[in-house]
Amino acid sequence: MLLLKKLSEAAGVSGCENEVRNILKEELKEYADFKTDALGNLLFEKKNKGKKPRIMLAAHMDEVGLMITSILKNGFLKFESVGGIDDRILVSKTVTIGPNKIKGVIGAKPIHRQDPKERENALKIKNLYIDIGAKDQEDAEKKVKIGDYACFDTEFEIFGENIVKGKALDDRIGCFVVAEILKRNYEVEICGAFTVQEEIGLRGSGVAAYQLKPDVAIVVEGTFASDVPGTKEEEYNTVLGMGPAVTTMDRSFIANKGMRDRVFEVAKKNNIPCQPRRTNLGGTDGGRIQSIGEGIPTIVISVPTRYIHSPVSVADINDINNTILLINSLILDYQERGV
Ligand code: CO
Repeated sequence: MLLLKKLSEAAGVSGCENEVRNILKEELKEYADFKTDALGNLLFEKKNKGKKPRIMLAAHMDEVGLMITSILKNGFLKFESVGGIDDRILVSKTVTIGPNKIKGVIGAKPIHRQDPKERENALKIKNLYIDIGAKDQEDAEKKVKIGDYACFDTEFEIFGENIVKGKALDDRIGCFVVAEILKRNYEVEICGAFTVQEEIGLRGSGVAAYQLKPDVAIVVEGTFASDVPGTKEEEYNTVLGMGPAVTTMDRSFIANKGMRDRVFEVAKKNNIPCQPRRTNLGGTDGGRIQSIGEGIPTIVISVPTRYIHSPVSVADINDINNTILLINSLILDYQERGV
C-alpha cells in the first residue's frame, strides 16, 4: 500500500500529471520500457515482444482539482474547477497550490454575513476563494501564478478493517493495479499507458492507443460506489467488498461482450469475487480507446470507490487485491487460449 499512498498523495490535476508520472517511471523502470508522448501519456512496453495477443492496459494519472484564475488586490485567489467537482463540497477544504505546494484554505463569506436567502442556497464556485495567508496581491504573486493548479491536501490512511481513504483514488487505484501487474511476468505482449486528461473529456487515451496498436485493451478505473445511506438498492452502481466491477455500458461506450463474458468466466474459475457495474453513468478512457484505428475490443474493470471526485475517497483493500488477481488471471487465460 506504500505505492498507493505515494500515488494518492501526489498532485496530478488534469494537464499536470508529472508527479504521478515520475513515481510510476521510477517504481517500474526495471519491469518495462517507458516513453512519454507529446501529451504526457506514459507509454510502456514489457520486454516480451512477439507472443499474441498484444494486450493494452490503461489507467489515468490525472485527478479532478482546481486552477487559479485571478489574484485579487487583497491577496485572495479566485479559481475554476478542472473536471467534474460538486461545488458544494469545496468550502473549508485545504489545498496545495502549484509546484511549490503553497498551502491554502477554500473560504467563503461567513454565515453571519449571509442574508437568509443566501443561507438556503449552496455555495457556488464563484462565491468561493482560496486564502493562502498572503498580505496582499504583491505578496500572493510571490507564491502563486495564474494558471497554477490547486490540488486537495489529503493524507492517505488505512482505517477500519482493510479500508483505505485518500484523495484521487479515481484513478490512482487503477495506476496501482496496473503497476502491480507490470511487476509480473507473462508470455504475451503487455503494453499500455498511464494516461493524461481523462477527467476533462478522455483526451489522452486515444492518442496512446493509436501509438500502441493493441489487439485488446483493459482499462482499470476507480468507479463510484453508491452503497451508502440515502441511496436505494436499485440505484447502487457498485458495492464495496464485492470485488472488481465490470462495465456493461456507460456514457462513453458499450463494453466488448466477448471480453466481458470471459472476465466473469475467469473470475468464476479462479474463485475471485466480481460484480457487474450496475449503472450507465460516467464515461471512461474505454470509450476513446475502442474507436481508435480499426477498432479495439475493450473492457473496463473498476475498483468500487466511495466519494470519488471529492477531497477524500474510500476503497476496500480486498477489492484492490482482487482486481489485481482478476486481471492477472485474465492475462494468463489469453496466454493459454488466445483471443
Ligand atoms: Co476515473
